[in-house]
Amino acid sequence: MPEAVAPTAVASGSTNAKLAAATTTTTFTEVGPVEIPDLDSFPPTGTPIHPKLASWDFYRSLHSPQRIVAPMVDQSELPWRILSRRYGSDLVYTPMINAKLFVDDASRKKKVKYQEVNFNKEFGEEGAALLSSEGEGCSADSDRPLFVQFCSNDPSTLLKAAQVVEDRCDAVDLNLGCPQHIARRGHYGSYLMEDWPLIFALINNLHLNLKIPVTAKMRVYESTEKTVAYARLLERAGAQIITVHGRTRAMKGHFTGLADWAKIRAVKQAVGVPVFANGNVLYPGDFDKALAGTGADGVMSAEGNLYNPAIFARTIERGPMFPHAPELPFPSITAMANEYLDIVASLRTPTQSSAIKAHLFRLCRPALEVHKELREHLGKSRFDGAAKGEGRVAMYRAFVAELEQRLEADRKSGKWDERPETMLPGSVSYLTQGEGVYVPHWLAQPYFRPPLVPGEEGGKAKEAKSRAEQMTSVEDVQTKGEEKVVAEEKMRRARSESVETNQAGKKVKLDE
Ligand SMILES: Cc1cc2nc3c(=O)[nH]c(=O)nc-3n(C[C@H](O)[C@H](O)[C@H](O)COP(=O)(O)O)c2cc1C
Repeated sequence: MPEAVAPTAVASGSTNAKLAAATTTTTFTEVGPVEIPDLDSFPPTGTPIHPKLASWDFYRSLHSPQRIVAPMVDQSELPWRILSRRYGSDLVYTPMINAKLFVDDASRKKKVKYQEVNFNKEFGEEGAALLSSEGEGCSADSDRPLFVQFCSNDPSTLLKAAQVVEDRCDAVDLNLGCPQHIARRGHYGSYLMEDWPLIFALINNLHLNLKIPVTAKMRVYESTEKTVAYARLLERAGAQIITVHGRTRAMKGHFTGLADWAKIRAVKQAVGVPVFANGNVLYPGDFDKALAGTGADGVMSAEGNLYNPAIFARTIERGPMFPHAPELPFPSITAMANEYLDIVASLRTPTQSSAIKAHLFRLCRPALEVHKELREHLGKSRFDGAAKGEGRVAMYRAFVAELEQRLEADRKSGKWDERPETMLPGSVSYLTQGEGVYVPHWLAQPYFRPPLVPGEEGGKAKEAKSRAEQMTSVEDVQTKGEEKVVAEEKMRRARSESVETNQAGKKVKLDE
């Protein structure tokens, strides 16, 4: 059993974290061809300086959340969190916030702007237990429970950033899953998976010094043994809840594929803290399957929630809107869009145009497959920050009204009452091989990205693929704003149109 010394942890944080890192000399155990750092070579967890509930008491204090909306850059923003909670979500994460930019003292102006956009404290709505918005309809809403997610590679910066929000949320989560190029360049997210001492220091520093619990969201390794050891390291560092996204770092873009629930189950069996399972939850019924398949304590959904914010709704909604009524809730797209816009308009906290647009493109995706000419209308719409209330969302409202007119005509035509011979692009499930429920295009439903076109691996196609992947990256959503969202939509449309005739190939779901 060979032994090796791990890279030194970069622990520039509190004395506690410095000590932890200084005493960390990692040894490795070899399991087959895989080297796994030896957990006993890490320091013990230690005792927090503030009194804190233990993991399970903390979980129960939040009423044991099971239906969880994932952290999503530019998409799990305040109004979307409110909408998701109205439709059954028990707990929602903020989008990932870059700790360094959040507390960057080099430029006060930049820092203030970044904080305003990513966690607005000025209006007191983000993280509020009860929203007392001026608008109607929001007064009974809450932005709790809320976990604020950060990415970082520096324990002291992470602690400083977490302290800015610790009185406005229930826990701070560390992103260990981001697989995008920007995360590789910035050395955070899943690119920390090779540096266990640094991960230990990041989590442990928060555990010891923050007033609220720290949690972590991880991806899996190829090896189940290493995945389990990794989860146990997070627990030892002080993570009080662990979310396991059952995909490896390489499973992104065209290579996303299915999450491995068996690995999530293995983690659940190995750790003593609550575990949330993430991956493969697209239809409302997948919630029960994921709980049963993983044994996890909660189920997290990202894309499933974006395409159907009622994915966690407990009630069965049947009615004239959906004559073929499968026993699952698929709400009207335009009703959902309007409710979301109601919330955006009623809040004092501004919402980024890029977020609104991306939500509407996703929510309305099936309808826009039929009424393609309306995409441009949505693409040109903007949030008007200078206007008040409803005026802020007037352009989006006009788009939804126009779409609704056409959908009303479709509903009345009877043409769409039966499953069409050729299903709309993106509506065929790789899980059911096209045999699943038929949901008409005016109802919210999951999206299945088209498969790779044979031969796309080479030459120009490869270039196009890499461009397309870059366009759906977290970085782009975060930094390149609304034009990018429109470009992304165009690219996706071009791609989906080009593969319509190639549906016989392997069906692959792509990640963002
Ligand atoms: C638009 C979008 C933004 C995302 N942003 C984040 C993020 O900020 N932090 C994070 O940990 N994961 C992020 N993810 C990944 C999701 O949280 C989730 O792990 C992944 O999509 C798998 O879940 P799903 O199969 O339910 O989509 C994002 C995913 C999407 C679709």
